[in-house]
Amino acid sequence: MGKRAFLVAVLCAGAVAALPAAAQTKPFKIGLIVPMTGPFTSVGKQIDAGVRLYIAQHGDTVAGRKIEVILKDDGAVPANSRRIAQELVVADKVDALAGFAITPSALAVAPIATQSKTPLIVMSAAASAITEASPYVVRSSFTVGQVSVPLADYVTKNGMKKVVTLVTDYAPGVDAEQSFAARFKADGGQVLDTLRVPLRSPDYAPFMQKVRDLHPDGLFIFVPAPEAPAVVKQFRERGLDRAGVQLIGTGDVVDDDSLERIGDEALGILTAHHYSAAHASPLNQAFVQAYEKANNGQRPNFMAVGGYDGMNVLYAALAKTGGTASGEALVAAMKGLTIDSPRGPWTVDANNRDIVQNVYIRRVDKVRGQLFNVEISTIPAVADPGKSK
Ligand code: PHB
Repeated sequence: MGKRAFLVAVLCAGAVAALPAAAQTKPFKIGLIVPMTGPFTSVGKQIDAGVRLYIAQHGDTVAGRKIEVILKDDGAVPANSRRIAQELVVADKVDALAGFAITPSALAVAPIATQSKTPLIVMSAAASAITEASPYVVRSSFTVGQVSVPLADYVTKNGMKKVVTLVTDYAPGVDAEQSFAARFKADGGQVLDTLRVPLRSPDYAPFMQKVRDLHPDGLFIFVPAPEAPAVVKQFRERGLDRAGVQLIGTGDVVDDDSLERIGDEALGILTAHHYSAAHASPLNQAFVQAYEKANNGQRPNFMAVGGYDGMNVLYAALAKTGGTASGEALVAAMKGLTIDSPRGPWTVDANNRDIVQNVYIRRVDKVRGQLFNVEISTIPAVADPGKSK
């Protein structure tokens, strides 16, 4: 054997012997189910980019387990979400399911999580009921009720007396309408009407005309984020702003991904949400910079943060269990965890596995020539109002 071959042989033998036992164990597999086609594609792309950024920044090994993400496109069609989840659990033997752009997808998969005892991390969907659909659900996004109640308090304190609500007619929209309207009334306000538009191919024009005829001080809107440009356009085209109606809503209606497409017509819109790219913390500024660098200058929105933080929860839980990946051990490890996030700190509620986080009141304004949701008030550590405990 030549000197070089001998050296290589010695080095290889040394490397094998030096491999820690844990590194030889099987990978920790995460099935990431998001829409990468169809009307919710922007949500899937933001979540996926958030997940990838987290791994790039924190490494791909936790407690000796190599992290493997299997990305699947469900087109935000619940029957697809369910079939894909089944395949991921049975054929790929994933250790966790994650993603879920819309509430119906998360609800369709929850029974599979229960049967297979697989943790299910909800990175986008926002109806209150999802965490009650399976004891294996943990949420890294938000609930619409959580942001709607503080908004009702804020606007009534600032003189708003009469509103109309307009929401997309499915679970998170109904949550938004009911939680906002109930609080607005309890705060002394009057709800003139509650309008619901269909989820698929909505036409907002006739609803906006109806709002105009009712002359409210404010119009409260919840639509899923990809619908934001269409609904804001109709609001302006029907002259509601000129008629003295203030557009308010959950942050979905002016999310960071849509702001540029909406343009200056977004100026002055008042919303409540859990994340703004303008959030002034060093952690967020570093996050926004790194995200933009990795994604051709595109700005992260709250979906990206949901993906990023969902990975944070999984990493923290797996580190806590020392690499043990049973669903029961992982979910137990997640309960009560506090995460330091670009959005601010948040906690996994130990009672119901939902998210407790700061809610920010924001107004769209220009910062250095660009549109942002500028935070004007913080309500700390808000729990989901839809839970009994
Ligand atoms: C949901 O379906 O739960 C959902 C989707 C998009 C949003 C918010 C909630 O922007």
